[in-house]
Amino acid sequence: MCGIVGYVGRQSAVDILLEGLTNLEYRGYDSAGIAVNVEGLVELYKAEGKLQNLKDVVAQKRSHIEKSTIGIGHIRWATHGAPTTNNAHPHSCNCGKVAVVHNGIIENYKELREKLEKNGCTFRSQTDTETVAHLVASKYAQVKDLTEAVRLATKELEGAYALCVIHQDVKNTIVATRRNAPLLVGIGEGEYYLASDVPAIIQHTKKAMYINDNEIVTLTPDTMNYIDASKNVLQPKIEMLPWEPVALSKMGYKHFMLKEIHEQPDVVRNVLSGKLRAKDENIVLDEVTLDKETLKNLNRIQIVACGTSLHAAMIGKYIIEDFCGIAVDVEPSSEYIYRKTITDKNTLVIGVSQSGETADTITAVRQAKNNGSHILIVTNRPDSTMAREADSLIPVNAGIEVSVAATKSYMAQVISFYLLAIYMAEAKSGVGVDSLTSSDANWLNELKHELIVLPQKIEEVLAHKEDIQACAKKFSNSKDFIFIARGINFPTALEGALKLKEISYINATGYTAGELKHGPIAMLDESMPVLSVLMQGKVYEKILSNSEEAKARNARMIALTNSSDPKLNDLFEAIIRIPESNELISPILAIVPLQLLAYYIAEFLGKDVDQPRNLAKSVTVE
Ligand code: AGP
Repeated sequence: MCGIVGYVGRQSAVDILLEGLTNLEYRGYDSAGIAVNVEGLVELYKAEGKLQNLKDVVAQKRSHIEKSTIGIGHIRWATHGAPTTNNAHPHSCNCGKVAVVHNGIIENYKELREKLEKNGCTFRSQTDTETVAHLVASKYAQVKDLTEAVRLATKELEGAYALCVIHQDVKNTIVATRRNAPLLVGIGEGEYYLASDVPAIIQHTKKAMYINDNEIVTLTPDTMNYIDASKNVLQPKIEMLPWEPVALSKMGYKHFMLKEIHEQPDVVRNVLSGKLRAKDENIVLDEVTLDKETLKNLNRIQIVACGTSLHAAMIGKYIIEDFCGIAVDVEPSSEYIYRKTITDKNTLVIGVSQSGETADTITAVRQAKNNGSHILIVTNRPDSTMAREADSLIPVNAGIEVSVAATKSYMAQVISFYLLAIYMAEAKSGVGVDSLTSSDANWLNELKHELIVLPQKIEEVLAHKEDIQACAKKFSNSKDFIFIARGINFPTALEGALKLKEISYINATGYTAGELKHGPIAMLDESMPVLSVLMQGKVYEKILSNSEEAKARNARMIALTNSSDPKLNDLFEAIIRIPESNELISPILAIVPLQLLAYYIAEFLGKDVDQPRNLAKSVTVE
């Protein structure tokens, strides 16, 4: 949600800020703003709606704004107050000398606001952030030191924040701090950058430092002063960011989503690389530190995640239970954190998150950590807040994902779960919990072989995208869509439906096929498409019967199948075929056509595929 960028140096700041915001636009995009200091005066420029509106506002005064070599910028996903120009960041104080951008939520903003209003502050927005601007201004009036003013102000804040602050009287200086919201400093020659996420600055520098909770940095073009909340001076831990600027280009594709779908064969290769070397070698997960004792005593696994990551987790449940015989519960993080969960040191808790910044999942894993559970994080961002909570880590290596609709990160998460499940089966046998019989071992080796040959099979699916495009065209006018599946592909149905509703706004729902006749069948008529995920294996015939039942109610039937049975032609109006595979592997191949189907339908409908309405890439508020 929301994105922050900051710059202080010798170059003109405005283009650096706007470019940074462009690269963060996927995080939130309902209003935007910048604050600069032109010839000694702090000036704010803001606009509601897409970032282009801010660019248009800036363009009108470009030659003036260009003079500033310092600035902070923000792109907003509204939480407190509608997405209007007034509510857009940066926010300021009565005298207009302070400018603040903020990610997160100030939970005690109402009390603070009341207090500040009593002291004469006039509020111009409905946001929680404006309280920070007034608070910093009032502290600065007392201490005449911006770093100290920010430090004192944050002592009164409850909630989560990444903050960047400038003050008109403190030339060429940005003060930044965070708590439970990411923020990093990019280091250049005679210049510093600030960003809530790497894409905002990767064009300029790969040298960076992550700020930790409650730490404060004060940046001028030539200096970085770095302290903790008690004013102890800290040594910066500088690292090289593992991202390439090219990751932010569409590489000729119309949308990031389409590019990211096409990257999936390489994503699978990356995930497997170094972990699955050959079918007869054990899986290597370097950062999984489950010791023999923990493995022996493990009595259950809980997986917490949201959205698409939750669907990957559901596949994880299926295969871990199947391969390792350990009970696995999967729960949306937002539910997990508000009930009494039975966890102890013999419970492994797995947090799954593309961004590693999803607030509910962070809270859930912290809660489990407090109960003594071993925490394993499966994330695309090993530099994230969640990864820092991990006892064990599986970095999924999908590369930066820009489109709000997750595709390649889902693929990487699902593959990671296969690796984890096989790893645990092998490790458990290694510590004598369950010995693998030779047929078990052969069977696991077969699965490993299937994983190794997956990239080519995904390429085959992608090579037939025109067929999926044709199918999308045929069904793009539907108001509703039902996806049915059973067993290990039930999460595939849920994820296919989620992709479609996220980017096309069609009301799409996934059901276990067996549940159809317990209620949802009432919705079927000649206007309702029903897509059956029909993979060969133990539930094939069952889904076929469920599809017949739907057809008998005149639903428009679509099959997604790896079967070449000609009889399917009579039952289904459209058939999307994918290569054959073991049933247990089939979800990995089956999701690709569903991603493409959602993409092409949204594209036919002229929707904003990469930045669907109301959504943001990472949901950093509960
Ligand atoms: C995916 O297409 C969604 N945009 C969303 O459901 C996402 O998966 C969810 O918000 C979880 O995010 P995370 O993986 O970064 O934790």
